[in-house]
Amino acid sequence: MQIIRSTPEMRAIRQDWRRDGDKVVLVPTMGALHDGHLSLVARARDWLREQGGGRVVTSIFVNPTQFGPNEDLDRYPRDEAGDLAKLTAVGCDAVFLPQVADMYRPGAQTHVEVASLGRMLMGRLRPGHFRGVATVVTKLFNLVQPDAATFGEKDYQQLTLIRRMVVDLDIPVTILAVPTMREPDGLAMSSRNQRLTPEDRAAAPVLARALDRGAALIVQGAGVARARRAIRETLRAEPRADIRSIDIRNADDLSRVTDATRPVVILLAVRFGDVLLIDQRVAHP
Ligand code: PAJ
Repeated sequence: MQIIRSTPEMRAIRQDWRRDGDKVVLVPTMGALHDGHLSLVARARDWLREQGGGRVVTSIFVNPTQFGPNEDLDRYPRDEAGDLAKLTAVGCDAVFLPQVADMYRPGAQTHVEVASLGRMLMGRLRPGHFRGVATVVTKLFNLVQPDAATFGEKDYQQLTLIRRMVVDLDIPVTILAVPTMREPDGLAMSSRNQRLTPEDRAAAPVLARALDRGAALIVQGAGVARARRAIRETLRAEPRADIRSIDIRNADDLSRVTDATRPVVILLAVRFGDVLLIDQRVAHP
């Protein structure tokens, strides 16, 4: 596995691959990799197989511009040696680990903002977050120049926003969506799960149960209002769960819905102690 630590090196290697005619899939991450991230690498590999081969590049970059002033950038988990071992084991071809100073040079003043999609839902809870995401993903796309890139449905708003961005800016990258990988008890895999106390970890699968119940009601045609009530009731039955938001939105553009005649996505944000967990599920009426 090739390890690329600077942006000039990344550009040079990309030129070599182009000469070889290789397709490239980028898997953007912030490291502290778990099986959910590795399923993105597997999806990238499958796509390349359909295309006749190529290279999978995983980027690991804890992007400072997507963290708010009260969010602890310094406490974000980091495990470079562990990440490299996991990526080698799943057959990733290259890892791109740029430095912050390389990515954000002094005097930078350009950013990418996906207006409404970046401000709604999690964007209201975390102002500036999606601007940081859209900007860094654009930069990674420009540096790696991939043919395709993978994004998890786990971060459904992020996936929707990136899809909108590549259309709006004519970025020639195919976006591959990957289903959420879960623990055996249903909890969506996340690096944040490590920070849960044992009691909160035991309680956290209530998110998946609430989503299942809500989705089942939507599928049965019970409607958005009833699904929302059932989700709230399920979450309230768990005293450790501090409900931050329950949203049921149009699955394509996250616009508000009053009835579920088209596919909807249920988005939950629930706190356990000081850990905010998010999870989502798409339901087809
Ligand atoms: P990070 O949180 O490291 O996630 C990297 C990718 O892994 C995202 O596309 C995310 O949706 C996906 N992912 C996380 N948990 C998953 C799970 N349980 N199953 C499937 N996929 C999962 O998201 C980011 O980093 C950053 O915002 C980034 C896009 C890299 C920009 O900095």
